[in-house]
Amino acid sequence: MKNRTGDTLQMERPSFGVERQMHIYLNGLFNRKNKFPVSYEDLLQEASEKMTPEAFAYIAGGAGGETTMRNNQEALDDWQIVPRMLVDISNADMGVTLFGQRLPSPLLLGPVGVLSIAHPEAELAVARAARSMKVPQVVSNVSSMPMEDIARENAENPHWFQLYWGRDHDFTRSVIRRAEEAGYSALVVTLDTPVLAWRERDIQLGYLPFLHGHGLANYFGDPVFREAVGGDPEQNKFKAIRHFTKVFTGPGLTWNDLSVIRNCTRMPIILKGIQHIDDARKALDYGVDGIVVSNHGGRQVDGAVGSLVVLPEIANAVGDELTVLFDSGIRRGADVFKAMALGAKAVLVARPYALALAVGGEAGVREVITNLLADIDLTLGLAGCRSWEEVSVRNLRKKSS
Ligand code: FNR
Repeated sequence: MKNRTGDTLQMERPSFGVERQMHIYLNGLFNRKNKFPVSYEDLLQEASEKMTPEAFAYIAGGAGGETTMRNNQEALDDWQIVPRMLVDISNADMGVTLFGQRLPSPLLLGPVGVLSIAHPEAELAVARAARSMKVPQVVSNVSSMPMEDIARENAENPHWFQLYWGRDHDFTRSVIRRAEEAGYSALVVTLDTPVLAWRERDIQLGYLPFLHGHGLANYFGDPVFREAVGGDPEQNKFKAIRHFTKVFTGPGLTWNDLSVIRNCTRMPIILKGIQHIDDARKALDYGVDGIVVSNHGGRQVDGAVGSLVVLPEIANAVGDELTVLFDSGIRRGADVFKAMALGAKAVLVARPYALALAVGGEAGVREVITNLLADIDLTLGLAGCRSWEEVSVRNLRKKSS
């Protein structure tokens, strides 16, 4: 095709974001309006109307007065994007490479346990949605469905296993072995939960989902756990749940215990919950492969620093040697852009897809992922960047400095 000056016009494929926009606008043209909530705020509202008060509080809430949740948001708002102009973004690529694997975007679904409180298909529905969008799923070891079944739903789509590292080393070795056999390709070890935090909403309602039998599939099906409770946990559920509450966390664990994990797996090990630069350096000293700069979405320490505040110093200190990932507060494309500009190699998102599962099941999760990917793609291009390699702190300005 020629334009008026006779130059050949390249007919490039529209980007993911543009395609998604046009799909929605064309549907609107024919009166097929978008019914699923688009903004996170609307999603929260709809989920609160649909879920039981207990399930909603568990997913939406945080520790104490929820100042850390607010700090996460403020930390993201404190940075602003400074867009560049007249960059050819027609072939921009939002893909990333993580642990040698090329992924179509920097988005991962972070580990969220007990998803049966949101939807009966729980993590299986999430896996189907994740697979259809080629977004890796990080599966919690307190998933409501057995990790082997979730892995099967992911098939060729990358899936990682997340471990709450408890006090029973034999159980730890057993679940890691099962994860490897089921095809999980990385192990995320969550460090920020040596005990559960004081969560005011849950305390008010007297609600802990595990005591109601949610999130125990990987324990009840495990040979080490079954032996410890003397047989089939379903036969004496109360006793089995009590045993779970005893072994779930490991408040006595220290850095030297990491050898237990290192010695039983060849999966890359990623420590989740790092906020202090000295802990990031320790992670490097102890030979792990990556870290997630995360404060558990403000669900553990109340009154803590916003997760994005500490990302730049940690990425500067260890980012050349460790794969630095980020979570806590990612809601939109701009949030992803900021985290990537400040040194993250990819980001995890949690509450948005858990709430979407409650509102719309598998289709709801797919909707949230698709919209977030479109927003990420458009933000990258509109900032004037063709790939994440071009994105750095030079694309940002700090509000408060
Ligand atoms: C979580 N998170 C979490 N993390 C983890 O390592 N293992 C888990 O099983 C869970 N379970 C879980 C349940 C629920 C209901 C929520 C909301 C969160 C923490 C999660 O992976 C993530 O770090 C934070 O939620 C931050 O991300 P968002 O929610 O701000 O996107």
